[in-house]
Parts: sequence; C-alpha cells; structure tokens
Amino acid sequence: MEILIKNANIINAGFTKSADILCKNGKILEIGKDLIPQSENAKIIYAEGNYVFPGGIDPHVHMHLPTPAGYSADDFESGSKAALRGGTTTIIDFVTPKKGQILQDAIKERKEEAKNRVIDCYFHVSPIEWRDTMEQEIAQCIKDGYKSFKVYMAYKESIGLNDDVLLKVMKAVAKYGGMVTLHCEMGDKIEEARNQLYAENKRSPKYHSLSRPAKWEAQAVKRAIELAEQAHCPIYIVHVSAKESLYHIEEAQKKGQKVIAETCPQYLLLDDSIYEEDFETAANYVMSPPLRKKEDQEALWSAIKSGVVTTIGTDHCPFTKEQKALGKDDFRKIPNGTGGVEQRLNLIYKHGVLENRITLQEYVAITSTNAAKTFGLFPQKGQIAVGSEADLIIWNPGSEETISSKTHHMNCNLNINEGFTRKDSAELVMLAGRVVLENGKLTAETLRR
Ligand code: URP
Ligand code: ZN
Repeated sequence: MEILIKNANIINAGFTKSADILCKNGKILEIGKDLIPQSENAKIIYAEGNYVFPGGIDPHVHMHLPTPAGYSADDFESGSKAALRGGTTTIIDFVTPKKGQILQDAIKERKEEAKNRVIDCYFHVSPIEWRDTMEQEIAQCIKDGYKSFKVYMAYKESIGLNDDVLLKVMKAVAKYGGMVTLHCEMGDKIEEARNQLYAENKRSPKYHSLSRPAKWEAQAVKRAIELAEQAHCPIYIVHVSAKESLYHIEEAQKKGQKVIAETCPQYLLLDDSIYEEDFETAANYVMSPPLRKKEDQEALWSAIKSGVVTTIGTDHCPFTKEQKALGKDDFRKIPNGTGGVEQRLNLIYKHGVLENRITLQEYVAITSTNAAKTFGLFPQKGQIAVGSEADLIIWNPGSEETISSKTHHMNCNLNINEGFTRKDSAELVMLAGRVVLENGKLTAETLRR
C-alpha cells in the first residue's frame, strides 16, 4: 500500500520541514516537494493545518499486570487501542518472571499475553532474584535483543532486590552491553513505615503517600547511581517524581556517568494535596512513587528543558474503582497504579508546548525520539526520515475536548486526569505504513495485525 501525505508540517526532534511524505511497504520512501505517488491506487492524505509527528513511544506501561487486587484493568488489546487513540504507536512493557522462572521462559509467556496488541510492543526484562544461571540468562536476553533490565528497589516482599543482588545484576548487564532500568524507592524503610502507620491506626490513602517520602526516593536514586558507577553499568531511572532525586541525577550526568531519567505526566501535573480528599477520590491517585509537591512539578519541567530528564513514560497501570476499594480499611491493600497511556501526548502538548515550557521539537524528543534512541529503536522509529518506519501521527492542534472516564478508551471506570481539557488530537495515525486510526476510529487495518 502506498500513501502520500501532502503538505505535511513535519516536526522532528532535530528540525521541522514543510514537505510531502511518500510511504510504501511500511517505510518512508521519500520526503520532498510536489511528490507524485508511484501507483494509481495510492491513498492521498491532505495534512495542511496539522502537524505531522513521529508515532509516540511510551517506554513504561504495565498491561495485564498480576497483583493481589487482580490484573491491572487494561490488557494488551484494550491498552494498546487506547494508546493508539492518543497517538502512541509503540509501547515498552515488562517481563516479570515468577520466582524461580528462567528469564527466557518468562519472555515466552509474556509475548503470548501480548499477542492481541494492535501496536508495536517491546519489553524490559526483570531479574527478581539471583541464581547461578542468571548471568547466562541475562547474556542470552541481550543476544536475543532484550537489552533493558528493570529492577525494583521497592516491593522487597515480592520482586524487589537488595543492593548485593542489584550490584550482581548491574555487573552482568554491563558485561554483555545492556542497560539497567530502576524503580528507585528505599524498599525496607518504606515497608517498616507502612506497617508502623497501620499499627497506629493510620489507614487512609494519605498514609500511602506519607510512607513513601521524596527523601527515600532520592536516597534510592543516589544508591543506584553509586552501584552503577561501581558496576560501570548504564542506568535509566523510571518515574522520577522528586526534586531531590533530580539533584543526584544531574550531578552524575555532569561527571559523565550514563544516567538517563524518565518522568510521567502525573508527576508534572498533579500534586499530593489530592490525598487529603475522601477515600473514593484519594485512592484513585495511589501510585508509587506517590504524587509530590508543586515545587517538584516545576523542578521536573525545568529538568526536561535542561535535558536532565529526557523521556516521558506513563507507568500506565490502571485499576478500577472496585479494585481500589479493596484498600478501604488498609491503604497497603490499595493497588498501586493509574492509567494514562491514552492522554500522554495530549497532556504534554497542552501543558508543555502550549504553556511555553517546551518547543514542538523538544516535545517530539521527549515523547518519541529519545525513547527510541535509549531503547535501540532509532532510526527505525522516533523520527520522520527516509528509510524509517512509517509510524506517523497527523496532529490536529485545534481539536478541543474534556478528558473523562466516560469517554476515554482505557478499560477503567476512573481517570486521574478527569476534567483536564485537551486542545489537540491524533486525527490520523499510521503504523508501519498503514492507516490505523482515522477520524477518531480504529480502522480495519488496525485489527488485521
Ligand atoms: O504505582 C505504580 N507505579 N504501579 C505500577 C507498578 C510500578 O511500580 O511501576
Ligand atoms: Zn511502572
């Protein structure tokens, strides 16, 4: 199938250009003025008045995640459809093995679970323990193209790692040329604080937040950086939420250490005052790390502008109101996580670009290009260039709507961005040269994957 996009206002991370884009066999064949399609039945799309961006890449989602409260509410099908509607054409999810399970077996299982997705999907792999064969398993993953290894410094009772195991993982990953991505929170201190608060009869959602203070995120970030330096291992710190964490990240970057940082829309736009609300509201915002203060938001925006934070993921992990209600009498039982994969691009466009915090080119960099570069998908993805995959969004900057759980497409009856307005929309989305969303509807092509 040949598709010609006429009069595209192309926005890449490095440059903008007005031109036509000719796509064929899944790739961008030509970019230039007054292009003519090669075949008679080529589809012509007129893009004047809209921007054309590379498809969004969300480097941090948890579809169909098993938890004590049941699976997270979006499976790969519903979650990837919601992502697509928001202009995201690639997600990176996680392979989390069961105790004792070989990484290769866990990858096989997870790929099976992800089969019903409608967009491109890659995985980070999580070593949750150490064993004699782990170094070889990590080496095999890297050989097979799985180069990013996610470790948790929180959740010590289930998947979290102690520092000695963390160091072993980092050394093995560094030896074979991979990267470690980290959830940084001081797990032991948090566990103690949670249990102490519960024992004192402090059981509402705000104690989730109070048991996970910014200083313990920052301490974990500092520790992770120290261990990575010892192991000579590149690291990527997920969902940075606290100003104090940024200080350690920036110091390490200044010294030349490979430390990459991600944040999420919720940490840029929401704050911890929400935890003072009643259970039905506050529980919806229970996530780890929790929401922080307004000054942390401003620090995160500055860190994006200065290049200390280079990617925006969503940590998409929605739970329904009914699942959240399982923690009515015990904040420790409220499932951690919120949804956002559908609104990432809208929120960052409105609050980043339209509020003059970032330029359009920086917007493309943090929502697509930098993730592609960080996770080995560039130059196939993350840019509009000859030879790259034709993953494109035609972005209408003048389409306004209020975000609501009643109209969103995520499989969840709540939305932490309820009431936010968006000023734009992905009017048409192409994935690998096929139109997969047009006029707000998924096309037959979407489902033919
Ligand atoms: O609260 C969160 N972030 N839930 C998803 C799992 C994780 O910690 O990333
Ligand atoms: Zn996560």
